[in-house]
Amino acid sequence: MAQITFYKHDPIPLEMHKVKTVQQLRLLPTRERLKKMYEAGFNTFQLHNGDIFMDMLTDSGVNAMSDVAQSAMLRADDAYAGSETYYRMENKLRELFGMQYCLPAHQGRAAENILATRFVTPGKVVIMNYHFTTAKAHITRLGGRVEELVKYEGLEPKSDLPFKGDIDLERLEKCIQDETPENVAFVRLESGTNLIGGQPMSYANIKAATEICKKYGIITVLDASLLQDNLYFIKIREEGMKDKSTREITRMIADCFDIIYFSARKFGFARGGGILIRDKAMHDSMEDLVPMFEGFMTYGGMSVKEMEAMTVGFDESMDMDVISQGPQFVDYCVRALDEYGIPVITPGGGLGAHLDASQFVGHIPQTQYPAGALVCALYICGSIRGMERGTLSEERNADGSERMASMELVRLAFPRRVFTLSQTEYVIDRVKWVYDHREMIGGLKFIHEPKTLRFFTGILEPVSDWPEKLAEAYIADFGEEQ
Ligand code: F0G
Repeated sequence: MAQITFYKHDPIPLEMHKVKTVQQLRLLPTRERLKKMYEAGFNTFQLHNGDIFMDMLTDSGVNAMSDVAQSAMLRADDAYAGSETYYRMENKLRELFGMQYCLPAHQGRAAENILATRFVTPGKVVIMNYHFTTAKAHITRLGGRVEELVKYEGLEPKSDLPFKGDIDLERLEKCIQDETPENVAFVRLESGTNLIGGQPMSYANIKAATEICKKYGIITVLDASLLQDNLYFIKIREEGMKDKSTREITRMIADCFDIIYFSARKFGFARGGGILIRDKAMHDSMEDLVPMFEGFMTYGGMSVKEMEAMTVGFDESMDMDVISQGPQFVDYCVRALDEYGIPVITPGGGLGAHLDASQFVGHIPQTQYPAGALVCALYICGSIRGMERGTLSEERNADGSERMASMELVRLAFPRRVFTLSQTEYVIDRVKWVYDHREMIGGLKFIHEPKTLRFFTGILEPVSDWPEKLAEAYIADFGEEQ
């Protein structure tokens, strides 16, 4: 896919797969969508999927599975203990990452719970390039703190920096010295850094950062949930890497870390998770947490069918024809939006296109959740479900004041191998319409605000009747039915 050149046509991303099974979609009329938005409390997590045309909330657990992965599910070995399926999965992970020990977990955040429970005590700090919501929630739940040291340029919305997920090496070393190494629970590097726009880390940065950690005897942890996107970017963007295979690059990255964990809802094209550990004593110190929180050691809360599928998915994640599909669709979408002058994070990363709501709807104060409002506007006008990744996704400070996010993003995820290029064109078209009517969008306020991970279950309402006015303007342009 990355290699196809066209004879007459301008280059477009080209799918190296065909569709064999489809799911019917429906497009509710605009006024019904407006009603559904109120019923969902202006929170796109609360919408019913049947009421959505383009579900771009996430790539988590909704990537398309191949015929090979689906057929592998048939040979799953049902057993509470000692399932052959588990051993096949474990061996595949050993082969790819070269780490001897594996702990299963039912999804990524369950792995985060185990790691935080094992290593975080009150007052300890976890240093990261950037946090992920669930990783941070487990650390703070246990009285720990998070320090984010992504390079300052990584937070600039517009850039041509190839590796915006890189950690600032100088600040990393200084932070370790200031905190003292004993107080650092571990350093966590996130591949394909989710919350700053699915932005990759370079191998050179990973290597240098983990070497600093080793010098101070600090445990290094890789969140490999978005590794497949990161592998693609290392191969095409990093000097000296294009002749290395994705398997070689995976091994070079893995060799830098003591622990690797992942959500197989992303890495593996299925649903599950796991932790890989280099050292036996370290593995033994965590293993009792698996039967306590997850399930027996050979399933860890996962269905054996999913484990068979993800074992195939791990191999597919090493295939450039497979892993280039997501980033290339994102790139296509980001370029088109950028050409329209729409504020979007550049360069395109993996995972999804990210609108910069702080610019898009800059007139909405951060305390009224600009990204949250924009994501609702996109559902009302287009039946596109994105995800708020800004202040609404943060938790309040201890004194109850809002913690303002450093970026106000709306993520339009591209689940892998799911959408077509014409659907992508539709999204670009509707985002452009919303951009041209952006002044009409107003803010949101909470009417039910949970303390932790409030973005999942919080209920909000608009600060004025802006949704009604926006819907009427949309109907005036497109008619009642769409
Ligand atoms: N780490 C990263 C980088 C993630 O993106 C996610 C999930 C997790 C850990 C947690 O994994 O969902 O299996 O428990 N990201 C999803 C998303 C929720 O929509 O971006 P999980």
